[in-house]
Amino acid sequence: MRDAAGGRDHAFPGFPRIRSGVNPGYNPTVTDPDFRPLRALPGQTAVEIVDQTQLPHRWVAIRLSTAAEAAHAIRSMQVRGAPLIGATAAYGLAIALASDASDANLGAAYALLLETRPTAVNLRWALDRCRRAVVALPPSARAAAAWREADAIAAEDAAANRAIGEHGLELIKRLGTDGGPVQIMTHCNAGALATLGLGTATAPIYLAHRAGIPVHVWVSETRPRLQGARLTAWELRANGVPHTLIVDAAGATLMRQGRVDIVLVGADRVAANGDVCNKIGTYQKALAARGSRVPIYAAVPSATIDWTLADGERIPIEERSADEVLLPSGGEAIAPSGTAVANPAFDVTPARLLTGIITERGVCAPDGLATLFPGEAGAARP
Ligand code: MRU
Repeated sequence: MRDAAGGRDHAFPGFPRIRSGVNPGYNPTVTDPDFRPLRALPGQTAVEIVDQTQLPHRWVAIRLSTAAEAAHAIRSMQVRGAPLIGATAAYGLAIALASDASDANLGAAYALLLETRPTAVNLRWALDRCRRAVVALPPSARAAAAWREADAIAAEDAAANRAIGEHGLELIKRLGTDGGPVQIMTHCNAGALATLGLGTATAPIYLAHRAGIPVHVWVSETRPRLQGARLTAWELRANGVPHTLIVDAAGATLMRQGRVDIVLVGADRVAANGDVCNKIGTYQKALAARGSRVPIYAAVPSATIDWTLADGERIPIEERSADEVLLPSGGEAIAPSGTAVANPAFDVTPARLLTGIITERGVCAPDGLATLFPGEAGAARP
């Protein structure tokens, strides 16, 4: 069977011999240290992404060679996860400037990419950073400068993931278990597929696993888009990390039964006071963790902190389509025709419910981000 890009499809679970349709010589799994859900194509003003709407069934690589294609990839969730959304937008802006580096096109591409998804602040952060890097340059120098900035954003994300992993690993090492594996619960996909590196919430898990510390991950399926089931289970499996899939509603019971040592989640936008916006269902996990005295940490690269917001109240929450809820696999509707649906894609967990926040600069109390980032916190104050 051939995929849309002309490459060979591999049905899950036989993915270790995955081939990309665009670059058939490249045969990645997430155990490949060079694995990226986005790759800049050498010598071309284009990037290659993995279409995450096709996982876990098919590995389909797609080439993005216009800003409109980059915007579509973000909007349709072919790429998703806050850091990856930001990096894709940055490359999209650089690609746009390669064909027309005028002020007008800079503004148009910036606006097109910014309006793709509202919640993850990495999108605005990456676009602002690229625009700042080029706006004072002559048009002839803009595309190359934007591309360099996008490369830097990608490289810094990989480094931030690694540092988060190392800080989180220390937390895992300190957890006492009675000889069995450390039991970790996660939600959504804050993994390698969502970033340019080891992931955020998954980075401590991967480093612990590589260090020979036995871990087991409770993977929350994450209705309605099933990022936990489709993506986190896929990448944990590819890395040989023991895990068990649960329905979202099972999380609280497992915590109450003492079967969870720590909850690790990612973030899409974190306010200056440590309120954490992440995939819908994170707040419930935090309430359950508090109720059962299970430590819960958000893994947060600094690009995900919105210093302009004092708290999480005004974080824009994306409302997605009713079809995602009614037709989870695109088949028969799961509710009577005409049923009203609400589908908020994210929620805000108040800082007081978290045990701490893991950043690339270390672990802090949920209300302690300013101590780790005094420059950024100070600059944002009125
Ligand atoms: O809707 P998505 O799949 O883009 O949501 C992703 C999440 O909520 C992740 O937990 C978050 O972006 C952190 S990714 C390191």
